[in-house]
Amino acid sequence: MSEPKARLAHRPLEGMSVLVTGAGSGIGRSVAECLTSAGAGVTAVGRRAAPLAELAARSGEAVHPVTADVAEKGAAERIVAAAVARFGRLDAVVNNAGLARFGALQDAADEDFMAMLRVNVWAPAELIRCAIPQLRRNSGTVVNISSVGGVLSMPERSCYGASKAALNSLTRSLARELAPEIRVNAILPGPVDTPMWHETGLSDSERNELARKLTEATPLRRFGRGEEIGRWVCALVDPEMAGWMTGALIPVDGGRTA
Ligand SMILES: NC(=O)c1ccc[n+]([C@@H]2O[C@H](COP(=O)([O-])OP(=O)(O)OC[C@H]3O[C@@H](n4cnc5c(N)ncnc54)[C@H](OP(=O)(O)O)[C@@H]3O)[C@@H](O)[C@H]2O)c1
Repeated sequence: MSEPKARLAHRPLEGMSVLVTGAGSGIGRSVAECLTSAGAGVTAVGRRAAPLAELAARSGEAVHPVTADVAEKGAAERIVAAAVARFGRLDAVVNNAGLARFGALQDAADEDFMAMLRVNVWAPAELIRCAIPQLRRNSGTVVNISSVGGVLSMPERSCYGASKAALNSLTRSLARELAPEIRVNAILPGPVDTPMWHETGLSDSERNELARKLTEATPLRRFGRGEEIGRWVCALVDPEMAGWMTGALIPVDGGRTA
């Protein structure tokens, strides 16, 4: 009997250049690591230089760190230019950077709501807009990291949910607008234990209670892991796997939306 092939001996994304926002921590970091394991060169974007430098140190030449705030006007153009300057091309954009501020609408600060719309909706649109010429040339693809919060009712998290619902809408509309050259899909993660969970504005006890309720409401009874999202991103970037998929909103959520 022949030996089973080593995992990832096949590097399906070899030679591809992929841009990942929010790559320094949490889901984005796992996405970047899965992409480089699959052979891609990754332009890793975030506001803090240190986590990106650490990722690059572990991944060698495959990661190009770019410090930028995606919510700033002009950042998208600079980020796309940096990816093309480093890898000579751009094949895929993963819009992962996101902001979550939880709480009842009555207590929501205007600035928080506007910041979520800017980071979760406007910035992905702006990055896609700037990347269109490159993606058209390479039959490229966009993967938006949305959330199950964009399709479920989200009491006490309505503003976050609304921003992700808008990202879902953008995904589906752009899938048609940019076809047939560019594929546009979204992954909708259920809860994943990342630093974001500690920056939502909830107290420790409120967060623990929410985590308990979410686990109970999830058929597979646990939070997800970053790499369980990262592998799906790799599949969507790979034209062999997903060359006939566009406009899909894919829940990777332990059954939370089932
Ligand atoms: N964790 C979950 O349960 C969950 C569930 C569903 C969906 N999601 C989505 O998954 C994505 C990743 O979240 P995560 O949980 O991995 O959170 P995270 O660990 O807090 O990661 C967010 C990353 O985005 C970067 N970022 C934030 N604002 C940015 C900006 N304006 N410009 C550039 N980079 C920015 C942050 O780095 P800097 O601070 O250095 O910029 C950070 O590395 C988000 O879109 C989130 O909505 C998460």
